[in-house]
Amino acid sequence: EMLNEIKEKFEEGLFPQWILTDPDIYALEVDRIFGYTWQYLGHESELKEPGDYVTRWLLDDPVLLIKNKQGEINAFLNSCTHRGTHLCTADSGNKKAFTCPFHGWTFNTEGELIGVVAGDKVYGQKLNKKEWSLRKIPRVETYKGMIFGNMDKNAMSLDEYLGELKWYLDIILGRSDGGMEVKGGPQRWVVNTNWKLTAENFGGDPYHVATTHRSTVELGISPKDPLYSSYGHQVKLNHGHCVNVSTVVPGLNMPPYQGLPKEMWPMFERNLSKEQLEVYKKTTVIVGSCFPNLSFHCPVHGSEGHLHNYLTLRIWRPMGPDKIEIWSWFLIDKAAPEAYKMDSYKGYVASFGPSGTLEADDTEIWTRVVQASKGRMARDKDLSYNNLLNYMMGMDEVLPDESWPGPGVAYPTCYVDAALRGMHDYWLELMTSDLKDDSKWND
Ligand code: FES
Ligand code: FE
Repeated sequence: EMLNEIKEKFEEGLFPQWILTDPDIYALEVDRIFGYTWQYLGHESELKEPGDYVTRWLLDDPVLLIKNKQGEINAFLNSCTHRGTHLCTADSGNKKAFTCPFHGWTFNTEGELIGVVAGDKVYGQKLNKKEWSLRKIPRVETYKGMIFGNMDKNAMSLDEYLGELKWYLDIILGRSDGGMEVKGGPQRWVVNTNWKLTAENFGGDPYHVATTHRSTVELGISPKDPLYSSYGHQVKLNHGHCVNVSTVVPGLNMPPYQGLPKEMWPMFERNLSKEQLEVYKKTTVIVGSCFPNLSFHCPVHGSEGHLHNYLTLRIWRPMGPDKIEIWSWFLIDKAAPEAYKMDSYKGYVASFGPSGTLEADDTEIWTRVVQASKGRMARDKDLSYNNLLNYMMGMDEVLPDESWPGPGVAYPTCYVDAALRGMHDYWLELMTSDLKDDSKWND
């Protein structure tokens, strides 16, 4: 079928433009990609006390994450088992029980039905409450504080799925004692674009920085060298994951460890391996994507003497082929000095918060790509027609750097499309795989 022809184009570094927003492709993605991959739900630091809860989404499924009395985090479908209404509509809070706004059934933090309005009178003895617990999300697993859910009960473990990406996540999540913590709630906003585009942007497109964020060069915040965001390595990882580990423009000065406070350095040296430390010491930015729709960005902002670093996690939640809801979390080392945390937070809000200067640059471009891809010409599916987008950068020319100490296939520049070609390959693998929908939700 069509997807097999696309495969040949992918091998040449070409990507048909209509794939971005085609409704049939989207329907297939919903089933074959979002029905079978691990997707990010939240961070353990968002749920501190028993009864703490947050409401999230796995694509279109509303999810209620609750910490129970034993301190375990459970994930339920946030839909009442009586007649299906959205059970908890708040973003977050603390509760001992959740009462449905429709007919008042009440569930505890274990998801068990504990109260039925006029129960005995209307149902007599027939209603066995045990049979009406909230439905569990089929799989929930965590990695270094990150909570993921999966709709496929037969999915490979989260650990295996993250695979080679873990080595890089370990640097940003595990560099300091106590790990990272979320500050504030996630910020959310809706953008008229496609999820693949945004995942690509963080996964393997440092090439856009010099142009899209040109104003920062003009303001003197970024270097004039048009190659400035190319320095470092782009790494293609298994399962479609991508990471870019940037280093400073040659000749410019930059303190080690992303300018983080000196008192934190001994922690890094304790918590990271020799190889991770060697890479991390020289790092300015770590940015990448965890397939399908989670991205991470660990940058440095500010100027000499006043640098700050943070981690932001992003979800690109599809709401259709041409619409996403962005969820953005700010994280910082639990062990960082308090004043530093505040500075970092301000830096995040000003740059990559929903109204941040850099965010606005990207958002506008992303919506324009989708706009321009919905017209008659761009939608032409004839693959012999010149309707293919270019992902050929570095193809057959930039060779892997064999001396790279981390896992994955590392290229000695970030101006290369290798990681995105890897992302597309995995996308195609899932889209064409012969998946069976065999009673996934039954235990
Ligand atoms: Fe929840 Fe009826 S739908 S109690
Ligand atoms: Fe950008």
